Amino acid sequence: MAQLWGGRFTGETDGLAFAFNASIHFDRRLFQQDIEGSIAHVTMLAKQGILEEDDKESILQGLLGIRKDVEEGRLEIDDTYEDIHSFVEAQLISRIGDGGKKLHTGRSRNDQVALDMRLYTRKQVQETDALLKELLEVILNVMEENVETYMPGFTHLQKAQPITLAHHYGAYFEMFRRDRQRMEDIYRRMNYCPLGAGALAGTTYPLDREYTASLMGFAGVTQNSMDSVSDRDYLIEFLAALCTVMMHMSRFCEEIIIWNSNEYQFVEIDDAYSTGSSIMPQKKNPDIAELVRGKTGRVYGALMSLLTTMKGIPLAYNKDMQEDKEVAFDAMDTVKNCLILFTGMLRTLKFRKERMAESAMNGFTNATDAADYLVGKGVPFRDAHGIVGRLVLYCIEKNTSIDRLSLQELQEISDKFEADIYEAVSLKTCVAKRLTIGAPGPKAMKETLKKYREYMDN
Ligand code: ARG
Repeated sequence: MAQLWGGRFTGETDGLAFAFNASIHFDRRLFQQDIEGSIAHVTMLAKQGILEEDDKESILQGLLGIRKDVEEGRLEIDDTYEDIHSFVEAQLISRIGDGGKKLHTGRSRNDQVALDMRLYTRKQVQETDALLKELLEVILNVMEENVETYMPGFTHLQKAQPITLAHHYGAYFEMFRRDRQRMEDIYRRMNYCPLGAGALAGTTYPLDREYTASLMGFAGVTQNSMDSVSDRDYLIEFLAALCTVMMHMSRFCEEIIIWNSNEYQFVEIDDAYSTGSSIMPQKKNPDIAELVRGKTGRVYGALMSLLTTMKGIPLAYNKDMQEDKEVAFDAMDTVKNCLILFTGMLRTLKFRKERMAESAMNGFTNATDAADYLVGKGVPFRDAHGIVGRLVLYCIEKNTSIDRLSLQELQEISDKFEADIYEAVSLKTCVAKRLTIGAPGPKAMKETLKKYREYMDN
């Protein structure tokens, strides 16, 4: 057992209590951030004349040495310490002696851990954003190549109206773009440095908080020391945004699973992202897509866990808050892994375009267009709806589609049908006529694609 606070105690900590209290087995992840924060703190202390130059130099050398030794595998982060902060401080003192004991001047582990976690999360926000950008690039490439790849669009998982693959993917482009905007937003709001808040009430040393903050690339400093040590809003916001990313991926996965099913056969998932069955030789299962869908649950769990942890905590720091880390780390890792695998799966996904078009043709997705055609011939829409409804019933009985009926058959149901009906209900026409902003028609889509390209190049 190695802790920083023995002075006031006469008895030993119970072994189990020490282990229960310790966080080093997970906050060791904050090692780099802890060193970075200490370097900034010490640099500021010296500038303010709180620390002698000599002490500053030896502390900095000590910290850099510890970092190098850990990075190069000569020093192991030792689980006998209570937390990563204790480990670094103890190492420093053992290396440079009493000077090392000055590192913690004007600082508490409360503002220290608030800083470390913020630095770590800030980096995660950037990494997640970069992965989202890669995913958007893959989606946009598919869109650009499939402006005229027809497929059925669904509502209630029933064929509704014809769309294009570009249009379907475009919906996900929008979702993941909003996810990136959320990252940007969170970054902007969280980028304030809590160091200098002390345990809860600031310090009596003349710290230059603004200076420390600027050394670590923060936009400024937090404004209330109690809030500084007990705020985890940024982490909750980030987890909520990660939940949304997972929700988007999960929906997309669900569609890919459906499209990949024997019944649909719209897509084929690459062997690299499929698995077989131990008993059924014919199987090629979409396990990666299913796992991404499945892991959505644990990321939601992390958000619920942290929200619940925070809900009854009085100001300021309480040890409950140590519970933020394991769930958050797990969620951060999970989302990044899912993004990497999901992007790979999408990049290698093959489309069976003929099946998709065939499916769009067979499901009466052009029924609305047939009704619109009749409206063009002077039939009121409600009557046209009824006529086409009867047409559909007739087709179902005959096991055929509107565009395969003879003109005579069509005219038996309504004499308004003329030879130009075939052109009017072809897939190409049905899609091409959808020209409003955001619609699948190639004209509208090309405008959208231009905007998406510009967005990606920025
Ligand atoms: N391991 C602690 C945490 O993660 C660090 C802060 C400890 N502060 C304290 N007063 N015990 O929250």
